[in-house]
Amino acid sequence: MSDRKILVTGASGKLGAQVVESLLKDLGVKPSQLIVTTRNAERLQTLAAQGVEVREADFFSAASLENAFQGADSMLLISMDATGPRTQAHLNAVAAAEKAGVDHIVYTSMGAAQSSPVVFAHEHAATENAINQSAIANATILRNNWYFENLPEYFASVLQTGHWLSSAGEGRVAQLSRKDLAFAAASALVKPAQGKVTLAMNGPQSLTHADMAKLIDKVLGTSTTMVHLTDEDYQAQLESFGLPAPIVDLCVTMDQHNRAQCSDGTSEAFETLTGKQPQPFEAWLQEHKADLIKLVA
Ligand SMILES: NC(=O)c1ccc[n+]([C@@H]2O[C@H](COP(=O)([O-])OP(=O)(O)OC[C@H]3O[C@@H](n4cnc5c(N)ncnc54)[C@H](OP(=O)(O)O)[C@@H]3O)[C@@H](O)[C@H]2O)c1
Repeated sequence: MSDRKILVTGASGKLGAQVVESLLKDLGVKPSQLIVTTRNAERLQTLAAQGVEVREADFFSAASLENAFQGADSMLLISMDATGPRTQAHLNAVAAAEKAGVDHIVYTSMGAAQSSPVVFAHEHAATENAINQSAIANATILRNNWYFENLPEYFASVLQTGHWLSSAGEGRVAQLSRKDLAFAAASALVKPAQGKVTLAMNGPQSLTHADMAKLIDKVLGTSTTMVHLTDEDYQAQLESFGLPAPIVDLCVTMDQHNRAQCSDGTSEAFETLTGKQPQPFEAWLQEHKADLIKLVA
């Protein structure tokens, strides 16, 4: 392991915390090699106590960023979990990384970022473009597929109601776990830089929603009914539940994306990057069965 300084933004978040854990526990990075950023240093006191350097950085404060990124050789820019203003926030972070002399930037993008119909895809596309056009010598753009965790965190209604409303049709999605994606990001940070590359981070199987429903039923003992809808009917159903318009748009465009096979793919790039196979959906369901069962009505 070299003594390169590694910086992780968003280290207090769900993905960032797992990246930091992978760096320290799985990949042998020393706490003294690691810099983590947050808008509020108190959130990362536990890491500070372990000898990790904690710096404050707000993507909306361009001035704060250059100092915060100073001395970092490899840096992970975790996309902000907010749509709308995040393009400018990300562009601020890329510009600051360039000015601070970062040698390798890793970015968490999404599948088919340049062509996807998902409402927020343009934000990832703009960030990818800024990274590729920057003077930063090396970049690893990780086009992360959807997380298995979206099932309990955003689509728990599938488990709660036993009905999966979908306009994705026969679209295949190579989902994987957040933990595997965190390990992939950590692996990219410690690997020797290799110019600018864009890698699709996919799970080991590409499944339709109906395939996933069958595996959910097999592991959880549920009986999920697939409700296949057109985009228009899916939108009308979601609106009838009183969901806010941005959430409706997100769900409908996600299924357009899935139907267009924008998240189809294989896990070769993941395996080359990490040296391991990502966890299959059925194994993930088994691992989290006790928590998932609690969501079932
Ligand atoms: N592919 C998928 O299926 C999928 C699913 C879920 C999420 N995601 C994406 O994964 C990314 C990480 O998600 P997560 O679940 O880890 O998010 P999270 O737990 O909500 O954490 C968000 C992180 O962003 C940081 N942040 C927010 N605003 C910031 C700002 N103005 N300046 C600097 N840092 C800021 C926060 O840091 P502080 O509060 O400490 O400053 C926090 O660490 C997001 O882009 C999200 O969209 C993808």
